[in-house]
Amino acid sequence: MTVHLEIKNLRKDYKRGETVFSAVKDVNLEVNGGDFISVVGHSGSGKSTLLNLIAGLLLPTSGEILLDGESAIISSDDKASRLRNTVIGHIPQGQSLLSNLTVFDNVRLPFYLSEREGDPSAQVHELLTGLGIGSLAGSYPNSLSGGEARRVAIARALINKPAILLADEPTSDLDAENTDEIMLLFKRIAKEGTAVIMVTHDQRTLNAVDRSYTMEDGVLSNHSV
Ligand SMILES: Nc1ncnc2c1ncn2[C@@H]1O[C@H](COP(=O)(O)OP(=O)(O)OP(=O)(O)O)[C@@H](O)[C@H]1O
Ligand SMILES: [Mg+2]
Repeated sequence: MTVHLEIKNLRKDYKRGETVFSAVKDVNLEVNGGDFISVVGHSGSGKSTLLNLIAGLLLPTSGEILLDGESAIISSDDKASRLRNTVIGHIPQGQSLLSNLTVFDNVRLPFYLSEREGDPSAQVHELLTGLGIGSLAGSYPNSLSGGEARRVAIARALINKPAILLADEPTSDLDAENTDEIMLLFKRIAKEGTAVIMVTHDQRTLNAVDRSYTMEDGVLSNHSV
């Protein structure tokens, strides 16, 4: 069973000084399991805000987020974090690893937060090896390069085999070779049924996706790749 994500008239207002503005303006979007889409747009256009709304990290001002027809806008932190850790894998923009945990423990953390039974060790190693960072399992985030840390965040987002993968500039600190490998990985994950939503500036990634959208001043529009 793959997921059906529907976003209807989603809006997020922020206040700066006395001015209220919409970082996300009445966004409509439909994504199904198996889709690999990208959202491209200038800095400040609202891309991360949109992903954070879908991830349940922010509450919208208005509008709906439906997962298989049911509202996924949950104001209880507890339920929202369970949803985040089971249905959704999120690769946030920037550095997001916990510095006091090893690479291995960072990657397996969402497994425990999802309250699943079993031992994820084999999957953690498999993911790390597949991403070319198997030898770093025992290292701490401070000792990693930007590209290595990015790949750890990617492994962490995939440990629970999420129905939806939200990737915010996942290739921003990767070289061409690693970028190609991550695109192949995302394509494979989409083929296996995950809905992959990637925010990017990276022109190198655009021919990997099925559909591409642009975001401008909070407005999302369709455009063909
Ligand atoms: N907590 C906040 N309070 C007020 N304004 C905010 C807040 N978070 C974001 N913004 C503003 O909302 C707008 C959209 O920000 P967002 O981070 O979504 O942009 P972005 O498209 O991801 O940019 P970038 O490509 O630089 O990552 C920006 O103008 C930003 O300054
Ligand atoms: Mg951003």
